[in-house]
Amino acid sequence: MNDSDNLFCDDSFLREKEDISSKTPTAGPKWKVMVVDDEEEVHRMTTAAMRDFMFEDMGLDLIFASSAGEAKFALNKHPDTALIILDVVMETEHAGLEVVRYIRQTLNNKFMRIILRTGQPGMAPENDVIINYDINDYKAKSELTIQRLYTSVVTCLRSYSDLIKLDDACKKLEKEAQRRILMEKQLAEREYQAAVGMAITQIVHGAKNILSALKGGQYMINAALKNNDSELLIKGWDAAQTGISRMAALTGDLLDVSRFNQIELKVGSIPSLVEDIIGMFQDEDRAVEVSGDIDKSTPPILFDYEAIHTALMNLVSNAIDACTAREYDSGEKARVLIRVYSADGFVNIDVEDNGQGISENDMDKIFVLFFSTKNFRGNGLGLPITKKIVEGHGGALEVTSQKGSGTTFLIRLPLKDNL
Ligand SMILES: Nc1ncnc2c1ncn2[C@@H]1O[C@H](COP(=O)(O)OP(=O)(O)O)[C@@H](O)[C@H]1O
Ligand SMILES: [Mg+2]
Repeated sequence: MNDSDNLFCDDSFLREKEDISSKTPTAGPKWKVMVVDDEEEVHRMTTAAMRDFMFEDMGLDLIFASSAGEAKFALNKHPDTALIILDVVMETEHAGLEVVRYIRQTLNNKFMRIILRTGQPGMAPENDVIINYDINDYKAKSELTIQRLYTSVVTCLRSYSDLIKLDDACKKLEKEAQRRILMEKQLAEREYQAAVGMAITQIVHGAKNILSALKGGQYMINAALKNNDSELLIKGWDAAQTGISRMAALTGDLLDVSRFNQIELKVGSIPSLVEDIIGMFQDEDRAVEVSGDIDKSTPPILFDYEAIHTALMNLVSNAIDACTAREYDSGEKARVLIRVYSADGFVNIDVEDNGQGISENDMDKIFVLFFSTKNFRGNGLGLPITKKIVEGHGGALEVTSQKGSGTTFLIRLPLKDNL
């Protein structure tokens, strides 16, 4: 190596420097570079050598310290130092390494770049110090020419700048992620509150309707008692009884909404459950005929008897309502047919009616909680409960309908892996 290249042996670097950078440092932000060395001469030389230094349009702000103690003090004052050029041997043989530990361990600063330099060539730190403390360059003072110092400083500032940019990007991402999580939470909370609010309104609305029917009955009964009017008494009592059964249906359905959160599976026969249900509708004077077409060979499956019973009762009562609401041509009879058969790995239960059917517009809404076209006679809980029960069994609830001529609901319960 030519002696005249050495930063610490020759003043000619001042002239050489002019060629390296022609830019003039600006008054804007600067890279903080700390020079820690117990030789005053090194401070002076470094200042002169780096006078016109520019990187990413920023000049240098040089900070000087002459011992490990001074360096620690300066580091506390300038935690945003980008690079420290550190002498190893100062007040003690390992004073520089003490500063390195202070930066990485005590200050927990992982970004600051470190160049170690020493006047004593044999005094290199152990490899584990270089690895564990993320030392970016290690140079004997005799090796450090102006050009090498320049290259080293540029390399270190570039990696410092990249680290800071990466850290900023990570922080921004983290902040954005937190903001989104918070927004989603707030949105979910608002939606939940709105749903709860709507549910309460619907329930109170339903209860109020029933209450006014009951009040009507109460009014009639009072008037009948006053006037000894037995006909009015019967009317009033009828109204009161209707109100009571509607209230019982509402409270029962409301309980069903949460009752079937847990499905209790037991081996059982769907054909015999359906026969039980058909049996409930067999009295002679029924306006709507309820019958079955049951394939007795349908294999037993695992299901919750009470839950599927509730689901089917909901479908059958809707079917009867739909028939009751339709006007039939003479000779045509209102009927509900329940079919049971297994196919494609499912036990299927069809509930088919020849009632008034469902309009295309209503088709999208029938599974929505509280949707009902029956005014105060319906509460809109039957189908949402039914869907929840069927899906709770890993099955599916399907519907096809023709406005004016009938509807078929199909419960599909899986056979495979069920037993
Ligand atoms: N078999 C059917 N035929 C025609 N419309 C039906 C049938 N089943 C359900 N619907 C429609 O779906 C709506 C929602 O049914 P549901 O949730 O059981 O509530 P509700 O019976 O209390 O009205 C009914 O109001 C009705 O408009
Ligand atoms: Mg219903």
